[in-house]
Amino acid sequence: AIERTFSIIKPDAVRRNLIGKIVAKFEEAGLRVVAMKKIHMTREQAEGFYAVHKERPFYGELVEQMSASPVVVQVLEGENAILKNREIMGATNPANAEEGTIRKEFALSVGENSVHGSDAPETAAEEIRFFFTDDEIVG
Ligand code: CMP
Repeated sequence: AIERTFSIIKPDAVRRNLIGKIVAKFEEAGLRVVAMKKIHMTREQAEGFYAVHKERPFYGELVEQMSASPVVVQVLEGENAILKNREIMGATNPANAEEGTIRKEFALSVGENSVHGSDAPETAAEEIRFFFTDDEIVG
């Protein structure tokens, strides 16, 4: 089915001028960008977005990194978009990521892993709503 998923090009990748190279990976795999904006997350936004990880030992550092400098948030659309995006990104830890994936090619570490992508339909819908209004999404 045609799905929508939520993606973040993280600060480490934006800082290294990799926005275009990462968007190209999505497009080459058949996903379409139906919404996109560059934002500098506040600490409160990063805390809210990653609230599910609150109890994890890396939460503080994660919030710090995600609000340290700008990111690009996107809605991607396409056949099986949620799983497809996860395949294009590769494993969370770049040490475990397959050849050709974004994280294999660009990520620096598990924390600075260049992209975030929704892991399931419910989280995709929630994450899209966290950053975009309906009128910002143009299919
Ligand atoms: P992301 O998909 O954005 O969701 C949570 C993020 O926490 C994850 O990607 C990683 O960048 C970050 N993170 C930092 N340390 C860890 C860790 N040890 N295990 C999992 N995620 C981590």
